[in-house]
Amino acid sequence: MYTLINYLLDNELALIGLGRAPVNALGHTLRQELQAAFRQASADPAVKAMVVYGHGLPFSAGADLAEFDGAAFATPSLPDLLIELAGSDKPMVAAIGGLALGGGLELAMACGYRIGESKARLGLPEITLGLLPGAGGTQRLPRLVGAETALDIILSGQPLRPERALELGLLDRLAASADTLLDDARAYARELLQAGAPAQPAAPHAAPGDALPANYFTAYTAGKASQWKGQLAPHLVIEAVRIACEQPLEVGLPRELELFVEAMESPQSKALRHLFFAEREAAKVPGIDASLPLRPIKKVAVIGAGTMGGGIAMNFVNIGMPVVLLEQKREALDRGLAQIRKNYEITAKRGKLTQEQVEQRMALLAGTLDYADLADADLVIEAVFESMEVKRQVFATLDEVCKPGAILATNTSTLDVDQIAAFTRRPQDVIGLHFFSPANVMRLLEVVRGKQTALDVLATALKLGKQIGKLPVVSGVCYGFIGNRMLEPYAREAHRLLLEGATPAQVDRVLTDLGLAMGVLSMYDLVGIDVGYLIRTPLRESLASDPSYYRVSDELYALGRLGQKTGRGMYIYEGRERQDDPEVLAIAERLAAELGIQRREITDQEIHDRCLFALINEGIQILDEGIALRAGDIDLVWTCGYGFPTVLGGPLHYAEDLGLERVLAGLRQYRAQLGAYGEQWFQPAALLERLVATGQTRINKQ
Ligand code: 3HC
Ligand code: NAI
Repeated sequence: MYTLINYLLDNELALIGLGRAPVNALGHTLRQELQAAFRQASADPAVKAMVVYGHGLPFSAGADLAEFDGAAFATPSLPDLLIELAGSDKPMVAAIGGLALGGGLELAMACGYRIGESKARLGLPEITLGLLPGAGGTQRLPRLVGAETALDIILSGQPLRPERALELGLLDRLAASADTLLDDARAYARELLQAGAPAQPAAPHAAPGDALPANYFTAYTAGKASQWKGQLAPHLVIEAVRIACEQPLEVGLPRELELFVEAMESPQSKALRHLFFAEREAAKVPGIDASLPLRPIKKVAVIGAGTMGGGIAMNFVNIGMPVVLLEQKREALDRGLAQIRKNYEITAKRGKLTQEQVEQRMALLAGTLDYADLADADLVIEAVFESMEVKRQVFATLDEVCKPGAILATNTSTLDVDQIAAFTRRPQDVIGLHFFSPANVMRLLEVVRGKQTALDVLATALKLGKQIGKLPVVSGVCYGFIGNRMLEPYAREAHRLLLEGATPAQVDRVLTDLGLAMGVLSMYDLVGIDVGYLIRTPLRESLASDPSYYRVSDELYALGRLGQKTGRGMYIYEGRERQDDPEVLAIAERLAAELGIQRREITDQEIHDRCLFALINEGIQILDEGIALRAGDIDLVWTCGYGFPTVLGGPLHYAEDLGLERVLAGLRQYRAQLGAYGEQWFQPAALLERLVATGQTRINKQ
């Protein structure tokens, strides 16, 4: 008896339906049953051909990623199973509905014939997880579609539409519709039988490397050197496809498997798989399940048409939602609307929107100066100046004009969401929706849950966030929420190290060498030294006990050296080039002397440890305080919103890789070594101490 397979005889056909919800991941039991079903059909003399399909489910999303830390190769392993299927002496048709990804597409390729429906997506996304296809994909795809096309598909990880797959020869047929897929597949199998088609048709590109120049793979790798810097998987893909071009399948398949195992066991792939599961986990919040009714959102209002408001409005317009944009003054409104139009026009120029679509989107946007126009909005997002007094006025007015049950959201980056909620008589309806700039592009969305935010408001915000293509991560209320709160100690160390003897270029280089998109000092130059200064202004009181570390930056502000926009900040800029500026080094030296800070040679290791351990320590503290629900949420915020390298899995995953003991020892070392400064800022998080004391290697809230 099968538990995950629907096995049915249809005259001379065996229909093998894969039935492992939700996406037919090819886990151990499914592999065992697929093997048994295949053997049953092979042994049955009445069966002349087989059809493999997803029984009420997508065809298959590939190998079961949850098994990769344990039973990935439990018998039959996917590679072995597919070798067995590919050796069938009866024709097999893969009927692809929904998805054929990774091992799912490899299964389809092991079947001799493939038919897909019009909404199906076919791809090998392994590269996005730091892997390469490991069940024949790097060997069979080049033989089907040619080596160059195969490389593009494998290295991009992007799925193909069925029409394109048909063009390339990855599909043999298109079904008339998703509903007729199985019938069409049966008809196709019968045609094959009538025509006496072989179980495995001859490969269209039996020698996929023949047309390639001799140095093709070396040149390809050289061309990608900077893009692939520090990444393992693309190099392994090149190696596997090269072998496919040079060796017979029997040699290529075991070699591919060796390369796959190397990738699977690499820290990079582990980090990327961690982020894959963290992303799925982030959508789950205790107390919220599918039975909780959500608030219907059919109309959105955005207040403030500045940098953030415009981008926020675009997110909703892009999914066809009408948006009212409210400003204080006509000029500001016109400017905001014109900027949105300009953004869409640019997209249209790049060929990604038609002019008609631009007009359709603009037609969904209504500008207003009158709060009365917000009366029927289901969700209002405020993006006005970062001032508690302005927020008070806005929320008090919203409380007056908005309909009962409307969700009132603030995009504040630093202010207290609970205090903002208290400006209304409906704090349960208030929530923070912290978008990142540019708001129409950046995927991260911190969903800030106030003390009184109702569960259905939170659940609705999470669902809506996903609908507009964001990655919503829940944060509690604290200064800076998850992301900016962690930025503070990380940036603090970068700035303080300038006083102790490092140069901006040295600090930033250590961070970019680690794979960060940008060093933190360059980032402040990009954002504006003035922006950093103004954000710090309300914090000065709490910094008063040690005002030292931002002194260089404060002085740059006073000198009008505001960063890239003025051509000078932490660096001197000439076009896109930048250099260390002797004037900044002199300022740092003078201030260090004034503050009695001993300057010395700073090693790269010290820069790494102080910046990263301070960041990690704050993350662990946030977890302990319950601001973040899980370590994975913190990793998502930093990889998705702050350019932390995904191949390191986020700051907390990286800490686990480094070893929690090492992080704790480093914090203790600098606490002892840096005098009063160390005493003040290098206090290890209590949770980190508890984890190390109890011998834990993973960061969990205890
Ligand atoms: N293995 C294990 N679980 C998987 C999975 C997989 N390959 N793909 C999806 N799932 C799980 C998710 O974890 C989630 O579980 P949960 O409900 O318990 O959180 C559930 O299926 C639904 O997934 P999503 O929430 O992501 O649903 P979506 O509809 O948004 O997306 C998807 C579906 C496009 C299939 C997306 O999940 C996805 O991209 N999956 C990964 C696909 C992939 O990378 N496949 C290659 C795997 S590696 C491989 O095949 C190696 C081979 O070459 C040997
Ligand atoms: P901005 O200055 O570009 O835009 C603010 C807009 O609000 C202006 O157009 C202004 O005319 C309008 N406005 C001010 N008071 C108003 C009122 N009472 N009613 C209606 N409109 C009013 O500011 P920006 O950068 O868009 O920031 C807005 C909010 O988003 C702030 O709370 C900020 O902290 C937050 N934020 C900003 C980010 C950024 O990178 N700029 C990132 C994340 C959050």
